[in-house]
Amino acid sequence: MNKQRIGIVGIGKISGIYLDNLTGMFSKRVTLISVTDVIAERAEKAAVDYHVRHIKTPEDLINDPEVDIILNITQPQNHHAVAMAAVKAGKHVYNEKPLCVTREEAAELLKAAAEKKVRVGGAPDTFLGAGIQTCRKLIDDGWIGRPVAASAFMMNHGHEHWHPDPAFYYKTGGGPMFDMGPYYLTALVNLLGPITRVSGSAKQGFTRRTITSEPLNGTVIDVDVPTHIAGVLDFAGGAVGTIITSFDVWASSMPFIEIYGSEGTLQVPDPNTFGGPVRVRRFREEAWSEIPLLKNFPDNSRGFGITDMAEAIVESRPHRASGELAYHVLDVMHGIHDASASGAYYQVKSTCARPEPLG
Ligand SMILES: NC(=O)c1ccc[n+]([C@@H]2O[C@H](COP(=O)([O-])OP(=O)(O)OC[C@H]3O[C@@H](n4cnc5c(N)ncnc54)[C@H](O)[C@@H]3O)[C@@H](O)[C@H]2O)c1
Repeated sequence: MNKQRIGIVGIGKISGIYLDNLTGMFSKRVTLISVTDVIAERAEKAAVDYHVRHIKTPEDLINDPEVDIILNITQPQNHHAVAMAAVKAGKHVYNEKPLCVTREEAAELLKAAAEKKVRVGGAPDTFLGAGIQTCRKLIDDGWIGRPVAASAFMMNHGHEHWHPDPAFYYKTGGGPMFDMGPYYLTALVNLLGPITRVSGSAKQGFTRRTITSEPLNGTVIDVDVPTHIAGVLDFAGGAVGTIITSFDVWASSMPFIEIYGSEGTLQVPDPNTFGGPVRVRRFREEAWSEIPLLKNFPDNSRGFGITDMAEAIVESRPHRASGELAYHVLDVMHGIHDASASGAYYQVKSTCARPEPLG
């Protein structure tokens, strides 16, 4: 098969797992050829460690005729500019989440890509892992009957205790919904289909946060975004969902995601992982049953989404972690914030198909 060649823009905290997997578990399916970062020494080191080329500027990497797909793992605030440059250069692009900061940026990106006939993909790709693919099969095979409702909880106290440079999580484009909501909403859309209407309330629990990780320990971040967001989701298929994403909670024992069906309940594993456990409890059963996972990709398989996109390009089929899916999720996340600001429901304008299950 004609393997697509990938160049990475942005060699920060998350890049390690992409570098490992694109040169490891996915190396028979794609070829990583080059890396770049505005902080040159980061890309220089990755180039040495992974035996790929260090390209000095993002512009040169993006315009390199040998690169087919740009993997854009810069901070959210840079997603649009880097992705637009890629599309203008005639390259396919796969962005880390969220797709862009605003709907307008994301819509412009998808329009430009359609005009240039190149693909846009977007993280997360965790829904392609064994855990959520097993859940998808259970729902599609009717194990819990007709989905009636869902709940999702992502609650912690933010990233300033571990991330080396966490300020972006508290600036426009950050916050718990835009940072972690993509995992939960992408999983829900994969399991239940698109969302048509949302409402919600968004609050800011703390106006300033102090970094306790190195090397910026003691630095204070001014918080510009809401950090506790509660949303209600109406799915086109008829189910009603609730979601809470928060960076204001010290401890919680709520589940990650549960789907409530007419004949039972499905417990979905952490959608920020590729594995399990997956549990089901059907009506009249007195205990949960742990369901064996489908064999595919239970371990940290970041890079699966861009690999699927690379193969889809060669095979002329739709890719699963698509720009349309990432745009729909972005639209829903903004809709919850908009509903909080306006006091009215937001009718979701975008939609998308459920990605094909992996089989
Ligand atoms: N850190 C995580 O655990 C994690 C997990 C999943 C997804 N993500 C997502 O991955 C993305 C990156 O997060 P991170 O934590 O690695 O951030 P980071 O700040 O550690 O790294 C981002 C890197 O991009 C570089 N960069 C920014 N603009 C650039 C440009 N125009 N050209 C070249 N390089 C540029 C920066 O210099 C930096 O090295 C974000 O979208 C985030 O939401 C992060």
